[in-house]
Amino acid sequence: MTVQSAVRRGEVTVRDLSKSFTLNGRRLDVLRGIQLDVDGGEALAIVGPSGCGKTTLLRVLAGIEPPDDGSVLIDGRPVQGIGTERAIIFQEPRLLPWLTVLGNVSFGLQVRGTPKAEAESRARHYIRLVGLGDFESAYPRQLSGGMAQRVGIARALTVQPEILLLDEPLGALDAMTKLTMQEELARIWREENVTLILVTHDLEEAIVLADRVLVLPKEKGAASRVIDIDLPRPRDRSEARFVAMRRRLMAEFGLH
Ligand SMILES: Nc1ncnc2c1ncn2[C@@H]1O[C@H](COP(=O)(O)OP(=O)(O)OP(=O)(O)O)[C@@H](O)[C@H]1O
Ligand SMILES: [Mg+2]
Repeated sequence: MTVQSAVRRGEVTVRDLSKSFTLNGRRLDVLRGIQLDVDGGEALAIVGPSGCGKTTLLRVLAGIEPPDDGSVLIDGRPVQGIGTERAIIFQEPRLLPWLTVLGNVSFGLQVRGTPKAEAESRARHYIRLVGLGDFESAYPRQLSGGMAQRVGIARALTVQPEILLLDEPLGALDAMTKLTMQEELARIWREENVTLILVTHDLEEAIVLADRVLVLPKEKGAASRVIDIDLPRPRDRSEARFVAMRRRLMAEFGLH
């Protein structure tokens, strides 16, 4: 079966976005004056030191958290809360333990009113895409961490979002599984024509996946920077230009 992708764009525009929290009576400026343009179908990685506001930015893009100031536009329309054109994947897959893989992946469509047979048929396509075709009847407790995370990715893709927001989706995985999953995510992104916005601590992961990397600063006054990853795909980690790019990103963090 082939899943027809509808006409979609998935363009994200962020203008003058600011967000602060009040913590113990003190105001904490987390994001200040963020500007960002992400093309439809582009892959953007967001990196920066712990606590600099990566998750907060992703939550604002997802519509889970309102900005204090500024705006987020999806295909030119202001974001008002969560929307079906965006799907978010967290570090933990958060599967429903009483449903099988197929049940978990088709759940989102079923709650939106898609008939069960159609929802399951579409879910099967994405379960195969993440390499779990033999496990659709398994329950979450029968899966490894990497498999569970792949189910989470299939679940997000099944609702065919224009924009996939990922908050360190591979952070909890062991090194080997992580490498495989990075390659799989790169492949899925190529095949699905979806806008990918990926928060990661892992600079190599950013270079494997992204067209551009947004570097958020720790100091709120400092400007964020965007670095183009103009390397051919699929990307070869051992290639000299890849290694040079990693060095350049490390230098952004004062690491050499
Ligand atoms: N709901 C909240 N209430 C108060 N403060 C918050 C809230 N959410 C986040 N913060 C604060 O905002 C800052 C940024 O948090 P955020 O989770 O966005 O950082 P991060 O860049 O994702 O960090 P990490 O890399 O460790 O995940 C932190 O100082 C955090 O304490
Ligand atoms: Mg975070």
